[in-house]
Order: sequence, then structure tokens, then C-alpha cells
Amino acid sequence: MLEGKKILLGITGSIAAYKIANLTRLLVKQKAEVKIVMTPEATKFVSPLTLATLSKNEVVVNISDNNSWNNHVLLGRWADVFVIAPLSCNTLSKMAHGICDNALLAVYLSATCKVLVAPAMDDDMFHHSSTKNNFNIIRSYGNEIIEPEYGELASGLTGFGRMAEPETILQKINETVNQKNDFLNKKVLITAGPTYEPIDPVRFIGNRSSGKMGIALAKEFYNRGAEVTLIAGPVSTELPAKCRIIKVETADEMFEECLKLFPDTDIAVMSAAVADYKVLNPSAQKVKKSNENLTLKLEENKDILKHLGNIKTTQILVGFALETNEEEENALKKLRAKNADFIVLNSLRDKGAGFGTDTNKITIFAKDGNKFDFSLKSKNEIAADILNVLKKYEDN
Ligand code: CTP
Repeated sequence: MLEGKKILLGITGSIAAYKIANLTRLLVKQKAEVKIVMTPEATKFVSPLTLATLSKNEVVVNISDNNSWNNHVLLGRWADVFVIAPLSCNTLSKMAHGICDNALLAVYLSATCKVLVAPAMDDDMFHHSSTKNNFNIIRSYGNEIIEPEYGELASGLTGFGRMAEPETILQKINETVNQKNDFLNKKVLITAGPTYEPIDPVRFIGNRSSGKMGIALAKEFYNRGAEVTLIAGPVSTELPAKCRIIKVETADEMFEECLKLFPDTDIAVMSAAVADYKVLNPSAQKVKKSNENLTLKLEENKDILKHLGNIKTTQILVGFALETNEEEENALKKLRAKNADFIVLNSLRDKGAGFGTDTNKITIFAKDGNKFDFSLKSKNEIAADILNVLKKYEDN
């Protein structure tokens, strides 16, 4: 049931638009509150009057008419989920590139909720490389695609590109909205990004971590109801606005912040690429060039994950392992040595996994010996997979 849930439907120009009348009826039957925004092209396929009557709400087509202005920001913030169905190739391409030339796109760009899309296009269009690239781009923004089905198409051809049936879309809406709160009120602590260990006031030892995996996890936990604190090393990736953010530079600072928060934490995910070593006695002044070789003495940093593993009581502790060889063996060693409940392994040998990329390929090792393998996916999708595994254990 969808009682009290706020569903925003976005309709674009495709013959499948007529099916949204039925979807609207199904949503209203499940007691959802439904609002609709359409592109001008979509109104040629299904009338706003039909949809306004079924949804019991005015349908938005233009950002403004001569007398009033539709607040797209409020509409995008109102919804629990925004479902763009049917999604045409044209709107897909605009979503991928931030084009905002109608009300639906303005709502999309200002939506703070999860966005689902149900594409509808001809088989050849669906398989075109530009379409595939655009799907990958919108996936990397966190949008979810309700895969089109195989069957008869409006062109008379048979192939992929038929919009998923309203019943399938309805089920996906149910899953999304009801999954939303499966980490409700959980206190989650996440570390992300690199640490910078100073050599002198202007130089440091660092690494190439972008923080993207930790940031994707923070967003996913937040979207599923958790109270999230993200302790981030120096990253240029945008930090999630709705999480509590603590910015740090060094491993020591990250350690101190984790230690303060850990007692009041339910789930701690250590995804930061913490420098293993820091410079012993960094120089207070800029180190000057000389003709001599320069030797830096390094001392070991505190291992945050290991320390939390030693002091943990009821907390669920998740660590990461980035490996280049003997991946499974090394990941399992880390799981035991750091007393973690889960280790998420990514191998630098897998193309598309590791630092800086938008994708990742992971295997999760659980303390009880279970192992979960996942294919190469966007970091947003990986984040959802990690939470699903944690949830499965919590439920058992
Ligand atoms: N980690 C940490 N504090 C450190 C080093 C690592 O909390 N000082 C955490 C990372 O956030 C990650 C996990 O430990 O969750 C694994 O980090 P990794 O650097 O791969 O492991 P190390 O134990 O440092 O082993 P090595 O670098 O030798 O592979």
C-alpha cells in the first residue's frame, strides 16, 4: 500500500504515455497522493484533463502561463519518489546533460527524492551507443532505470524498448518508497576520501582517493532513513548536503573524530583511504631545496578500523580493502585482524574499480564466512548493494 505516499509522475512524448492513465488509477487505488508533470509533447498522446481527473490534482505542463508560475523546486521537494514514464530518448539525453527547457526537466533538476525512469523507445534507438552512454550518465547521478521489455513496438517492429507495464512500475514504486526507511534512525558513521599527512606547511603525503564511494554510501544511508555523519578527508567531490559533515585533513584528526562518535554509532563504515604512515616531525617551515638527497622519516598512523574493531560493543563495523594481488586472502586477513563484521573488497585488477572512477566492482566478505559477489556497477548502485547485505544480516 502507498497510503500517504507522495508520487510525482513525469510524462514525456511517447505513445506509451497513454498507459500512465492506468498507472495513475492504480496509484490512487493504493491511496497514494499523485501529482503529474508533462512535457508539451506528451500532451499530444494523453490529455492533461484525463490525468488531472484521475489524479485529482492539476497537471503541470509549463513553468508559467500568463498569470502564474509553477514552483518546480517545491514540486521536486514534495515527492517521495519521482517516476519519469515513459522516458523518451530526447528527455533522456537532456537529463544526462542538464538541459532545462521545460517544466518536467526543471522539476527533475531540482528533485531531492529518488528518481525512477521507465524508458520507451524503438529497438534501434534503445541499442544506440549514445542512448547507452546517456543511461550510464543518468545512472551515475543515482537515477534508477526500470528496464524496458521485449515485445511489439509502435513502429511495428519487435524488439527491446517497450515501456515496462504499469503493474511493473507500480511494484518498483512500492519497493522504492517502502525501502526508503529501512535504516530509519540508525546512527551511521562513514569515513571517506584520502588523508593528507604534512611534510611541511605546503607539502603533504596523500593518495588519489576521490571519496566517491563513501559519499555514495552516505547518500544511500540518508535516503533510507539513517542519521549520517560523514568524516571526509580532502576531496573535491561535492559532499551530500543532508548529512552531517566533518572535514579533516590528517589520519590523526580522522581518528579523533571517529573515536568521539563511535560510542553513539550503530553502523560504522570505514571507506577512507587513510594514509598508513605520517611524517615524523613535519617541518614548521617550508623545506628548502638542497643538493643532498632528502630522507623523510615516516611513522605508522593509528589504524582507525582496527582500533574501532577492538573497542566495539554492539556496533556493526564495515571496512574496505583495496588490493592488487591475492585479493581474497588479503581481504579475509583484514576482516580478522581488524575485527570487522564485513570487508568490502575491490581489486585494482578489475577494470573500472578503485580510485577516481564512477564505477566499482566489489565482493563483500562477512564475518560468518559468507561471500557476496557483485558485477561492475555505478558507485551509487554499489552503495545500495552494500546496504542490502547489511539489512539482510540485521533482519536475521
Ligand atoms: N584503515 C583505517 N585506518 C588506517 C588504515 C586503514 O581505518 N590507518 C581502514 C580503511 O578505511 C579500510 C581498511 O582499513 O576500511 C583497509 O585499509 P587498507 O589500507 O587497505 O589496509 P591496511 O591495513 O592499511 O593494509 P595495506 O595498506 O597493507 O593493504
